[in-house]
Amino acid sequence: MEDSKSADFLERFFLNCGFGTRAIHAGEHVGQPQHTTHTGAIYQSSTFVFQNVAEGAAVFSGERPGYAYTRLGNPTVMLLEAKMNALEGKEVKLRDPEVRVSSLAFSSGMAAISSTLMAICSQGDTLILGDVLYGATQHLAENVLARFGVRSVEVATQDLDAVERVVKANPRARAILFETPTNPTLAVTDIAALAKIVKGVNPDMKVVVDNTFATPYLQRPLSLGADVVIHSTTKYLCGHGTVVGGVMTTIRDEVKDKAYSIVKDVGGNPSPFDAWLVNLGIKTLPLRMDRHCENALAIARYLEGHPKVERVYYPGLESSPGHAIARQQMGKFGGMVCFDIRGGLEAGRKLMDTIKVFSLAVSLGCVDSLIQHPASMTHACVPRPKREKVGITDGLVRVSVGVEDVDDLIQALDDALKAV
Ligand SMILES: Cc1ncc(COP(=O)(O)O)c(C=O)c1O
Repeated sequence: MEDSKSADFLERFFLNCGFGTRAIHAGEHVGQPQHTTHTGAIYQSSTFVFQNVAEGAAVFSGERPGYAYTRLGNPTVMLLEAKMNALEGKEVKLRDPEVRVSSLAFSSGMAAISSTLMAICSQGDTLILGDVLYGATQHLAENVLARFGVRSVEVATQDLDAVERVVKANPRARAILFETPTNPTLAVTDIAALAKIVKGVNPDMKVVVDNTFATPYLQRPLSLGADVVIHSTTKYLCGHGTVVGGVMTTIRDEVKDKAYSIVKDVGGNPSPFDAWLVNLGIKTLPLRMDRHCENALAIARYLEGHPKVERVYYPGLESSPGHAIARQQMGKFGGMVCFDIRGGLEAGRKLMDTIKVFSLAVSLGCVDSLIQHPASMTHACVPRPKREKVGITDGLVRVSVGVEDVDDLIQALDDALKAV
């Protein structure tokens, strides 16, 4: 009879459970010697002791599973990776149990993005990028990857005809990387339709989605045809603003293997303590996301009717161009809201200097509400003409809506808008 406490049994058992149950239990058995703790313990250790030389040799040669050194693998980090497999990979795995879903955790979202792109692209290759991305992702492509001979081209991934044209025009393209919803303009791309087009033209190209804004609770790109999903775990997955971290999940063994070799050789692995904090955060992800989404929708509706607000960006508003696709592929619409304030930079500055409850800070996805100015903060490294072309104006304000009482958040915005 099969051991009902074995890792294999538990992996299959939890795969059949709902998202909330998986967020709490999946992966908790991975790397844990016994079920003596009710929640995965922290292995805050740089190295691991072998019983004898033969065991060390067998672990290093891969003949025996085991831990040698935390840059190469750590039980707390592997727990996080197993949890991500269960959260991002359920549908693909249930559709085809032979598909291998694997995750790798990193020291930051940027370490996850850079290592994944280095795993996929080599000198002479082309990378296709969505035209609105987190500033550092654009900077990475233009200033780092370019120096190693990887050229990048941009496309508005909402425009599927344009995607088809650019994929056809770039036969050496190895990957297309985009965010949906985008940071900060919250534009939505139809992942399934894009993946179909890309694979139709170039079946080897990898579709890579930065799923940070949506989280696996709202959107699972692998089940829609993507090859790789990336998160900055700094944001909603951790949820409390205590960690900088990242994770990559893929159904392509070659991407995982190459990215693992990059972590080994370049570094970029997370600390066990950070991985442990993210593991804790994930357990309440569905609860927090429900509240983030509810609060964000109420705030977007309030702002939409405000005379000092020119335009509101939130995929949950019926007036949003991405609303229909977001409804289909996300269910709920996330916790990020952006708006253009009448009066541009000066008005935005006044709002941010006056507002209560919201903290003036970059980052997002924390339980507390944050407010910031993309043009001078998160996207300051994007040249002005390009910023303006994609809607990152001087008057654009980005709000990461927290899980506080929504009446207090709306009151704080209302008071601050009065002062503008
Ligand atoms: C969408 C998105 N991707 C990636 C990153 C980079 O993540 P990290 O700051 O953890 O390196 C960020 C950071 O804000 C982001 O917003």
